[in-house]
Amino acid sequence: MSGVSLTGISVGLLLIITEQTCSSAAAVRAPRSACVNESELTERSEAFLRRRWHHVHLLPGHLAPRASSTCEQTAARAAGDKSDRSVSPWRYSINRDMTRIPHDIAFAECLCNGCIINQHEDMRYNSVPVTVQMMVLKKIDCHKSKYMLQRDFIKVPVACTCVVPKSTK
Ligand SMILES: *[C@@H]1O[C@H](CO)[C@@H](O)[C@H](O)[C@H]1NC(C)=O
Repeated sequence: MSGVSLTGISVGLLLIITEQTCSSAAAVRAPRSACVNESELTERSEAFLRRRWHHVHLLPGHLAPRASSTCEQTAARAAGDKSDRSVSPWRYSINRDMTRIPHDIAFAECLCNGCIINQHEDMRYNSVPVTVQMMVLKKIDCHKSKYMLQRDFIKVPVACTCVVPKSTK
């Protein structure tokens, strides 16, 4: 269990808590399903990001280029950030979708298939992503340059953890 990034998970939990406490305040203005023009769309998108995603700037902070970017290099180094020192190390990459609000989300990617035990990748264990369900908006085309914003929930990988493979009892 030492592979779990508490930082990554606490970001996720914070989002879930925020999600619930803010939901009553979310019922504002015109129906969410209405088609709106470009400026109204921008305004709504920005309001959504302020309300729901203002914590998430914590994630892109990890996006600085990595000195160690393979499993082997990370195993040998065992230094630096939690994502490098974990027995199931990961890096972040930007997942971009221009029809989604927010467009860019940092996704964690496991560097190893196995886990790093005594500075070597041990295939008796598996690195697996830890995901958090997050609310995004999808931009849907109406007609005549109008758009609709629709709620959607996606699973965002925020870190990796080390598990025993399912087949091993
Ligand atoms: C966009 O829609 C809003 C609300 O209906 C309206 O006030 C505004 O003038 C419109 N803007 C443009 C550029 O059409």
